[in-house]
Amino acid sequence: MRARFSSLNPGDTMTDPVRIAITGAAGNIGYALAFRIAAGNMLGPDQPVSLQLIEIPAAAQALEGVMMELSDCAFPLLAGLQGFDSAEEGFKDVDIAMLVGARPRGAGMERKDLLLANAEIFSAQGRALNTAAARGCKVLVVGNPANTNALIASTNAPDLPPENFAAMTRLDHNRSLAQLALRCGGHVNDFQRMIIWGNHSSTQFPDIAHATFRGKPVTESVDKGWYRETFIPAVQKRGAAIIKARGASSAASAASAAIDTVRDWMLGTPEGDWTSMAIPADGSYRIEPGVFYSHPVTCRDGKAEIVQGLGCDAFARERMEATDAELREERDGVSDLLD
Ligand code: NAD
Ligand code: LMR
Repeated sequence: MRARFSSLNPGDTMTDPVRIAITGAAGNIGYALAFRIAAGNMLGPDQPVSLQLIEIPAAAQALEGVMMELSDCAFPLLAGLQGFDSAEEGFKDVDIAMLVGARPRGAGMERKDLLLANAEIFSAQGRALNTAAARGCKVLVVGNPANTNALIASTNAPDLPPENFAAMTRLDHNRSLAQLALRCGGHVNDFQRMIIWGNHSSTQFPDIAHATFRGKPVTESVDKGWYRETFIPAVQKRGAAIIKARGASSAASAASAAIDTVRDWMLGTPEGDWTSMAIPADGSYRIEPGVFYSHPVTCRDGKAEIVQGLGCDAFARERMEATDAELREERDGVSDLLD
């Protein structure tokens, strides 16, 4: 695919554009993501962006169409626009890489069933990032199974810090807020300190033990039976419910969660709150290194730090360990890509 550069120029007073790669940019999530980033929804209204969109050759024509539309929006913040069918070229000097391009699951599949189909993509892209991306590049993995794909990409990019890689569990976090708002009769903004532990899969543990509703413990507003028997399974299986309803996996909500993740990572989490991100386990909460595990994190100055010192009761520990075990099983299934 021919690389193109748009004739759009940011004004003289603007700061340098942030270079952002999106893989799978002509796919469903990519189509929902690129326009919002170009509109300034991710990095703010004063930050120009330059998009480096990456697709496979079979989707080159579709990508050409997406780029035509991006140009036609005449976004004031879109300083550059290029399309690539090579990851190494597409990742050149990028500050942020959003790894979306991968096969989605269909009805009746678990996300880990995609591992064989998608794992190779993330080892090749890890190597390409290692060669081409800016050394401080932040890499968000969205393509499923996201946690293990992030591990594969990071392991194959040994010259980039592992802490600059993350897998997305913000969609699960946002889904949890939406379910709580419905149940409590509030708005998502009324809730803070939700946690998704573990894998972006049906073993994830959406934990409300530390969450607040209008400043008070959420547990005062919802009963244990609803939490355990309705809420947890609903969040764990929301992706499958959307596939059943839409006939395709979540796209706009996934793009929105990716934007939320990168915004908080780069610009900081709101004061007094935290978010959920799957980052390299470091022994915190007895989750040993070797997997990308979703934790509660606060972000400052481009660094995500695990919130420490939260109590975990026996109910929580059992679920945290189950999702950890699944991640280690997934990892063992791709050990050939982790050398
Ligand atoms: P899609 O099939 O609509 O689009 C995927 C795009 O990726 C296609 O255009 C395809 O050509 C492209 N692609 C495939 N291999 C590529 C490669 N090696 N390099 C660059 N591009 C490549 O799928 P979608 O709905 O956009 O979903 C993408 C992925 O995101 C899926 O794996 C899906 O399961 C996952 N997903 C994750 C979350 C999450 O919360 N982590 C949420 C929703 C979807
Ligand atoms: C989701 O959570 O919506 C995505 O991971 C897509 C899926 O397969 O469920």
